[in-house]
Amino acid sequence: MKRTKLLVLFGGQSTEHEISCISAGAVLKNTDLQRFNVKACGITKEGDWIPQDGEDGAIDTESIVSGAWAKARRGEKGIGPALDLIYGCDVVFPVMHGIMAEDGSIQGLFAVLGKPCVGAGILASAVCMDKVFTKTVLKQAGIPVVPSVTLERTDISDMGRVRAEIASEIGYPCFVKPSNSGSSVGAFKVLSEDELDERLAEAAKFDRKILVEKYINAKEIECAVLGNRDPKAATPGEIITTGEFYDYNDKYINGTSSTRIPADISEEDLERIRALALKAFTAIDCAGFARVDFFKDRDTGDIYLNEINTIPGFTSISMYPKMWEHEGMPMKELITNLVELAIEDRAENAREF
Ligand SMILES: Nc1ncnc2c1ncn2[C@@H]1O[C@H](COP(=O)(O)OP(=O)(O)O)[C@@H](O)[C@H]1O
Ligand SMILES: [Mg+2]
Repeated sequence: MKRTKLLVLFGGQSTEHEISCISAGAVLKNTDLQRFNVKACGITKEGDWIPQDGEDGAIDTESIVSGAWAKARRGEKGIGPALDLIYGCDVVFPVMHGIMAEDGSIQGLFAVLGKPCVGAGILASAVCMDKVFTKTVLKQAGIPVVPSVTLERTDISDMGRVRAEIASEIGYPCFVKPSNSGSSVGAFKVLSEDELDERLAEAAKFDRKILVEKYINAKEIECAVLGNRDPKAATPGEIITTGEFYDYNDKYINGTSSTRIPADISEEDLERIRALALKAFTAIDCAGFARVDFFKDRDTGDIYLNEINTIPGFTSISMYPKMWEHEGMPMKELITNLVELAIEDRAENAREF
């Protein structure tokens, strides 16, 4: 059987560059080489595309994970050095997160080039990257989301009005975060009005739009979805955090947060979350995969959909692959399924011009 030529992309320009490199290492180590001929290309933080030497097992995954690959560059600039790899592949797996990676831009590039790309298409990628827009669509679909107000960066110049709006609509504590971000960068719990100015200014560094949400004393539950038009949801898992909330340190540095599958909630709640995850996946027209994240309010028991990650983390300890492993699907089989779904999705979306 002829092997499918798979191009794995990693790195990228977002704040989640490093986590992408670690995810790509795990994907490269767990790709079925009977089925796929694999090549890899890194994108630096400056946006230069660096094709990696070798293919299949000869790719230096250690250098990818450690970040050494980006230092070993030979003066490559822009996308030019990667064009042979791009035109030569059958399908692309962008193992990247955040802006210029998970937001429809990379998806658009490969749509123009006619190459199937693992994961959601342009529209769903863009909607899910923008937390304000995600909430707009989810509300329309009747899916519960945390009450919030949206601010523009320019609103911060009139703090009197902002303070009044937050006091009346949300109250304290509240939670401030950029609409477009990830890995908890620029996200803060705000205890009182005294801290508000500083936290809003910090969040506004990362995006023009800022969300101020009601603070939820939350159990954090995640649900893995896989498929295209007939998606399946795995048993939800739970993140047990050690800090005030699931911040960047807790996610990637401390190593102190832990996970459990299934999440420690009732059978009914597990089923409800699975159903909401599938409803959201379909409402936003996602494809391939998504990790749908929920809060269960410890005080009231209410469940909210917090966000949808259209390219979830893929490290050996990441929740997305772990939840499928729990269902009996090892990472190698999961990656094969994702690539096949990408090829199917492209065929289903084919149209006449
Ligand atoms: N409204 C909220 N109330 C309490 N904690 C929140 C709220 N929104 C976010 N958080 C905390 O911040 C973390 C990161 O926020 P999230 O919306 O998931 O953005 P990111 O894309 O950065 O993961 C969450 O996992 C949670 O711990
Ligand atoms: Mg999150």
